[in-house]
Amino acid sequence: FVEPVLNGVSLLITAGPTQEALDPVRYLTNKSSGKMGYALAEQAVALGANVTLVSGPVSLAAPAGVKRISVESAADMHQAVMAEVEAHQVFIGCAAVADYRPVSAAEQKIKKSNAEMSLELVRNPDILADVAKHAKRPFTVGFAAETNDVETYARGKLERKNLDMIAANDVSKAGQGFNADTNALTVYWKDGERALAHGHKRQIARQLLQLIQSHLQSK
Ligand code: C5P
Repeated sequence: FVEPVLNGVSLLITAGPTQEALDPVRYLTNKSSGKMGYALAEQAVALGANVTLVSGPVSLAAPAGVKRISVESAADMHQAVMAEVEAHQVFIGCAAVADYRPVSAAEQKIKKSNAEMSLELVRNPDILADVAKHAKRPFTVGFAAETNDVETYARGKLERKNLDMIAANDVSKAGQGFNADTNALTVYWKDGERALAHGHKRQIARQLLQLIQSHLQSK
């Protein structure tokens, strides 16, 4: 039996990669599997929460009891999140959102020639930062995948994006982060931190949610 500590709490979670179209058959993306975000959604339901999962293209089934909204691009994910944000008390940005997109998507398949080709890219909106700026801001949690100086970069994001909490993982270590079934996180907030030791993403998700819950109560 799991104590339903998130009973009545509604969570909005982003997960997976985004796809940024170049033409009807090509896109830019990244290696995110969506496993961490899906584990968070599944465990949040187990703890009694109402969960909306805004997901980029992944090969995972929606966990039982989760309302999934499927999107492709960062712009679509931004729009879906902003439409839902007011209805949720907690936002967890777990998606690996593409920072850039092609300046435009060609309507027809791009043809090759012998010439070199370069892509012009423009910045995508920062979904997490925009959620944190919202007038009816939820308790806002970000993720930071870093390869070095993890605490410095994570705390920088916490402040710059005005977050309540950030969960950082060192993706230079094997068996954590992208595509792995296991992870290890260090969670930072304004005046504290907590290490969540290496374990299955399910366990890490459960611990992160319990930590969020304890901060919600003291808010
Ligand atoms: O700055 P950086 O991309 O490393 O921040 C990572 C955090 O920001 C993650 O929580 C990610 O989901 C979120 N993010 C976002 N929209 C973007 C880029 C990142 O929500 N365009």
